[in-house]
Amino acid sequence: LNIINASFVASAVNASQYPEGELSEIAFIGRSNVGKSSLINSLCRRNGLARTSSTPGKTQTINYFRITGKMPDESRLEFMLVDLPGYGYAKRGQAARASWSKFIEEYWLNSARLKLVCQLIDVRHPPMESDINVYRWLVEHGLNVQVVATKADKIAKSRVHQHLQVINKNINMAGLNPGGNIIAYSAVNGGGRDELLDVIKNILLK
Ligand code: GTP
Ligand code: MG
Repeated sequence: LNIINASFVASAVNASQYPEGELSEIAFIGRSNVGKSSLINSLCRRNGLARTSSTPGKTQTINYFRITGKMPDESRLEFMLVDLPGYGYAKRGQAARASWSKFIEEYWLNSARLKLVCQLIDVRHPPMESDINVYRWLVEHGLNVQVVATKADKIAKSRVHQHLQVINKNINMAGLNPGGNIIAYSAVNGGGRDELLDVIKNILLK
């Protein structure tokens, strides 16, 4: 799968603002600053498509991007990539956690065409309790989840595999099981891009 066109469609803060249509959705979820918006730009090879920032809490709305993909046989695949606000921003408290959860619940309840949630976790650190809780919630709600370890360029190549194992082990210790392989991704050098596009393609064609 190759992405040949990507365009911003809409921002939404509640279900009445979600775009209508029949397109399947692939959503990106994770802690603030983990690299969700950067990953979307990297997948689409369009810097600035989704707004990024070195300050956590940049994305505050649900942002929809309409994607045209081209398959090896030249056929086209239309779908949406959905950028979500991050969770776990330390400066906000309990109230922010509750409102983020409600926000995501409303999205899930009103997104019948949500085919896959990519949960992003920083490759450098083991998942935090909030990551595990979100992962559990997604699985319990019957969603397909692909775990993606971001910022892979920030550690030595030779250590990436070990870091993926730590993430995997921590998810296992919580009594959970990441369905497929965790993908190491770098928005800086595009590492993991082909692998993730392949997962997205397979989900969309299922
Ligand atoms: P929120 O919208 O606040 O939830 O954050 P986000 O998850 O969308 O993160 P964003 O894409 O804005 O990236 C946060 C910071 O991490 C920015 O300074 C990015 O340049 C940096 N970053 C993101 N991905 C990568 C990566 O793969 N490698 C490196 N080195 N930096 C990255
Ligand atoms: Mg963002």
